[in-house]
Amino acid sequence: MPESTSALTSAGSGTEQALRPHAESAFAAELAALAATDDRPRPSRWNLSPWAVATYLLGGTLPDGTVITPKYVGPRRIVEVAVTTLATDRALLLLGVPGTAKTWVSEHLAAAVSGDSTLLVQGTAGTPEEAIRYGWNYAQLLTHGPSRAALVPSPVMRAMAEGRIARVEELTRIPADVQDTLITILSEKTLPIPELGTETQAVRGFNLIATANDRDRGVNDLSSALRRRFNTVVLPLPASAEDEVDIVSRRVGQIGTSLDLPAVPHGTDEIRRVVTVFRELRGGITEDGRTKVKSPSGTLSTAEAISVITNGLALAAHFGDGVLRAGDVAAGILGAVVRDPAADRLVWQEYLETVVREREGWKDFYRACREVSA
Ligand SMILES: Nc1ncnc2c1ncn2[C@@H]1O[C@H](COP(=O)(O)OP(=O)(O)O)[C@@H](O)[C@H]1O
Ligand SMILES: [Mg+2]
Repeated sequence: MPESTSALTSAGSGTEQALRPHAESAFAAELAALAATDDRPRPSRWNLSPWAVATYLLGGTLPDGTVITPKYVGPRRIVEVAVTTLATDRALLLLGVPGTAKTWVSEHLAAAVSGDSTLLVQGTAGTPEEAIRYGWNYAQLLTHGPSRAALVPSPVMRAMAEGRIARVEELTRIPADVQDTLITILSEKTLPIPELGTETQAVRGFNLIATANDRDRGVNDLSSALRRRFNTVVLPLPASAEDEVDIVSRRVGQIGTSLDLPAVPHGTDEIRRVVTVFRELRGGITEDGRTKVKSPSGTLSTAEAISVITNGLALAAHFGDGVLRAGDVAAGILGAVVRDPAADRLVWQEYLETVVREREGWKDFYRACREVSA
């Protein structure tokens, strides 16, 4: 099968074939344009000045006319504080409920500052110390004994040596004793290697971005010693329905392009309805402030709204009439809302009957939701 062979080789040889290119590749042109016009002072080993990093995240138009697309939609001050923190000796902790773009912002910050967002440690309950410090190549270790050649540096160790940004995802899921490995790294800026009687010292440009979910609080809370090494920036839920519709439309457009979905005119209508439903259920009250509703157990985040719409677009493109309709998003909404089959289903039925049913212009939406809920 020649096709599959050629697909394999080309996937390995070029980033344009990657299903999801890293931010520094996906937005290479924007980053290059920013670097070319950026004449403000850059901290050591930074690819851009803090101002240009903030512009990369928030979007803008450069003097030469290049348009920088907004990556993060939210308060400018939050981005400014996050970027400046990275230029200080404190690390950055992005905190927030799921789906508030913590991972997304962390990736783009690392891409803009260091040109490399891949120095990443994924935090889980099983993350070992080696994932943050270093491990050993056992074949080398057995034949040559402990040596630099046998040592396998973690992404954090590489970031220290190269003066780049390291990322730790879901910090609070990591067991407390493993988290504490970071204390020496962040306070002394060094990583001791007792087996070799040496250390790796961080060079200028090194810093660390961690993300943590609000909801995980109490699972493995950060020790106060570690927390003091971080500047915490809380990412809020989108302030208004307009902001949220804007975020969803942008991301859906980008994802649709990268998945090669046939173009479906996504009337903002359906996006607006999904966002409205999510916001009302999340907030426990209707948009007009008149009716209280119960909240289901799921988070109903912006990120989930994005995937409901993306799935809907795929349905419309492949099985519908090419236009995004209520019937294409109904199943996705049900899946996002009803996490707990018993309690959430009741919450959903009640919301459907008391709010959606009466709403003007929502008849088709009500019917589509009824159909999948039955
Ligand atoms: N304020 C926002 N601005 C831009 N994109 C957002 C925003 N909030 C959520 N998103 C989108 O939501 C998606 C998921 O975000 P993610 O970073 O995985 O969330 P978290 O790590 O906070 O759980 C991303 O695709 C991101 O583009
Ligand atoms: Mg995340």
